[in-house]
Amino acid sequence: MGVSDANVEAPYDLYIGGKWTAAADGGRFETENPATEEPIAEVAEATADDVERAVGAAREAFPAWRDTAPDERGRIVARIGQLVRDHRDELAALESLDQGKPVSQAKSDMEGAARYFEYYAGAADKLEGRSVPVGPDQVDFTLREPYGVSAQITPWNFPGNLFARGVAPALVAGNAAVVKPAEQTPLSSLRLAELCAQAGVPDGVVNVVTGFGDPAGAALVSHPDVDTITFTGSVPTGQAIMKQAAENVTPVTLELGGKNPAVVFPDADLDEAADWIAKAIFTNAGQVCSAADRVVVHESVRDPLVERLVERAERYELGPGREDLDMGPLASADQFEKVRSYVALGREEGATLATGGTAPDREGYFVEPTVFTDVESDMRIAQEEIFGPVLTVLSVADETEALAVANDVEFGLVAGVFTADVRRAHRFARRLEAGNVYVNKWFGDTNQTPFGGYKKSGIGREKGLEALDSYLQTKNVAVNLAEGSGTDLPGA
Ligand code: NAI
Ligand code: MG
Repeated sequence: MGVSDANVEAPYDLYIGGKWTAAADGGRFETENPATEEPIAEVAEATADDVERAVGAAREAFPAWRDTAPDERGRIVARIGQLVRDHRDELAALESLDQGKPVSQAKSDMEGAARYFEYYAGAADKLEGRSVPVGPDQVDFTLREPYGVSAQITPWNFPGNLFARGVAPALVAGNAAVVKPAEQTPLSSLRLAELCAQAGVPDGVVNVVTGFGDPAGAALVSHPDVDTITFTGSVPTGQAIMKQAAENVTPVTLELGGKNPAVVFPDADLDEAADWIAKAIFTNAGQVCSAADRVVVHESVRDPLVERLVERAERYELGPGREDLDMGPLASADQFEKVRSYVALGREEGATLATGGTAPDREGYFVEPTVFTDVESDMRIAQEEIFGPVLTVLSVADETEALAVANDVEFGLVAGVFTADVRRAHRFARRLEAGNVYVNKWFGDTNQTPFGGYKKSGIGREKGLEALDSYLQTKNVAVNLAEGSGTDLPGA
């Protein structure tokens, strides 16, 4: 499959107010194929002026979209889901080319994207408030109203899927959206915006401004007409966005990655645990916020578990996304350098490289599945998000130490425990400091389950009905039924 099979329609423009438009200053940048380091296409590079136009288009489109009957909004969003399903293979080919992941993984991402639209479509006409019984002389009720313009800043690890994760609930709740996809992977978001329009989303309700964090992302999150911000990416960028948002008191939903522990006890099925953990760290070349970055294993089963993990790691076949092997390249040169530098750091810090650690001698940003053992919790490779196919193994003497080590990081996105003891599983489920806990499994969260971080892993929840809370604000309405001045009403 070549570039043409992925329907590259270069050069790509911005999508603003239902129209394709060049950047105000005509600027363009290239997105590349990380498997070949070759450019794929030129893409418009948005300036602050373009962001201004996009936010203006969203602001203008918002009232009519807000006032569209909820069931009609739901039908339109359901049609997006169907179109994403119908175009799954095409979207997956484009994503795989731009991001690097094996094409079957990209297909699964796009199915997930379709599911977001389907799932939230069904909620469109169920966003109910409540009535509050304050006494016979008043009617009091709540309305759940959209914020207005939702800014969506997405990263490069699951670009199309995360577009859907944010845009679907935003639309269903009645907001208009401006999406700024990551500069490494802009293509799927542009195509998805086109499918939104085809499904009947009115002009201006979904806009896409491709470009860099600075200036496009920064202009978007600081715009006074943006009413809510959804960001997925690194902690420093999340912090910068939150500071910026404080200027306008704009609410933020932040999903900032993790350093997620997989705790393995001697009573676990080690083959199953190794299968889950290998999948959990090597899928998408480890560029997953909820990857299993750290194995925290009881010392009595450390060696047999490591042996199984190494054996699985060495079975991975690497290749360009279109060859659909087990693992693609890292998504960019920067990420390749970052992961390589952590491998070097792990060696310097005294960890033992059990397998991998090298980049195959070929073009593209490939790094072999890597396992470090003899890792101590205070090493940087055990504390910092590497975001690559690098597993760190820490061993512990007992349950108390396991919990302490598992929680000994600034992050708290997901965590897992592998054990046959149901009591211990539940003890850990409660005490692990993470927004999601897996017991004897990893990943496989559905769109229906809330997802988000404790500690520095973020604020707010994506997915599930909880995600709608990021796109709806509550208004209380109090209606006086009593005659007269009301001085005897409660609270007067
Ligand atoms: P980043 O957080 O800087 O980029 C993510 C998105 O934010 C991109 O769309 C980028 O253009 C935008 N952005 C950057 N600066 C901005 C600003 N000042 N205002 C508004 N938007 C801005 O992440 P980057 O540099 O691509 O990756 C660095 C590390 O971040 C990775 O190695 C990984 O550890 C982590 N990361 C975590 C992700 C997750 O899923 N939680 C996803 C991507 C990266
Ligand atoms: Mg690319």
